Amino acid sequence: MKKVLIAGSTGYLGKHVVKEFKKRGYFVRALARNPQKLKETGPFLEPAVIEQVDEIFIGDVTKPETLKEICNGIDIVFSSVGITRQKGKLTFRDVDYQGNKNILDIAAQKSVEKFIFVSIFNAHLFRNIEIVKCREDFVRELKNSGINYAVIRPTGYFSDISEFLRMAKSGRVYLIGSGKNKINPIHGADLAKICVDTVANDKNEISVGGPNTYTTEEIAEIAFSVLGKKPKITRTPAWLVNFGVKIIRPFNKQKSDLIEFIVTTQQNDMVAPATGGHTLRSYFEKLNME
Ligand SMILES: NC(=O)c1ccc[n+]([C@@H]2O[C@H](COP(=O)([O-])OP(=O)(O)OC[C@H]3O[C@@H](n4cnc5c(N)ncnc54)[C@H](OP(=O)(O)O)[C@@H]3O)[C@@H](O)[C@H]2O)c1
Repeated sequence: MKKVLIAGSTGYLGKHVVKEFKKRGYFVRALARNPQKLKETGPFLEPAVIEQVDEIFIGDVTKPETLKEICNGIDIVFSSVGITRQKGKLTFRDVDYQGNKNILDIAAQKSVEKFIFVSIFNAHLFRNIEIVKCREDFVRELKNSGINYAVIRPTGYFSDISEFLRMAKSGRVYLIGSGKNKINPIHGADLAKICVDTVANDKNEISVGGPNTYTTEEIAEIAFSVLGKKPKITRTPAWLVNFGVKIIRPFNKQKSDLIEFIVTTQQNDMVAPATGGHTLRSYFEKLNME
């Protein structure tokens, strides 16, 4: 039985990936800082996965001394580790780059067959943005490591797009720019299948999105329609949000970097080859019932 290490196993994508690897017969080792999270359904309906985990490895990717044995006996490493939503003092450089590199360094010393990493669709367009720069700096390390690898490049996750539903619930959706830019976001379960498929194929880079493409304005309308509310939408010029980003930067660089990423991606079409069957409307409906 092949053994997989899943780093990021307590997050939105990671939990779906744990489920998918287990379904396909793997022995699953889950890296977790807080194993309790494996027992719980997450805030974006990502499933509890404790039943699918064969072994919990307690560790923190920013503390290499906690990772020494992490790849012992492991054939495949998957990592979706990152700090998109996390609060605290750690930076994208500390976690998205160095944390993943700490795992890679150990994987390179062991007989790991393949390292699967999740970065961002169209990263080449956003290289000046800190989160993208850090993830792509890691991708470069991965390519130079000599380990067989796959880099998955998804558009946006349903979890992040649920922000539209949250805004609609509070009465008004704020769009950045015209609202005409397009995206085909993807459900974690659909993306997890693509992640696990990479074990058996020889593609090194896979761009992927969900089955349906929407403008951000349409996503706002779907959110209001699921709630049975009349749409109330405010369009904020991107330059104004970017100005705000510059103002908060000296006080909270991490938040400012994240908002800059959201503003910039919303100014571009994010439409990748489509896969999967989950629709945003049914996801919003389920989230709304929680
Ligand atoms: N969200 C999107 O729309 C999108 C689109 C394209 C690409 N991506 C990329 O996909 C990645 C995964 O997204 P996601 O939504 O699944 O993120 P998530 O729910 O925030 O999960 C992140 C995972 O990383 C773990 N982690 C963070 N810091 C750690 C540390 N110091 N040591 C060990 N584990 C640590 C978290 O553990 P804890 O539970 O302990 O915090 C969690 O398991 C992101 O980092 C992002 O760059 C996201």
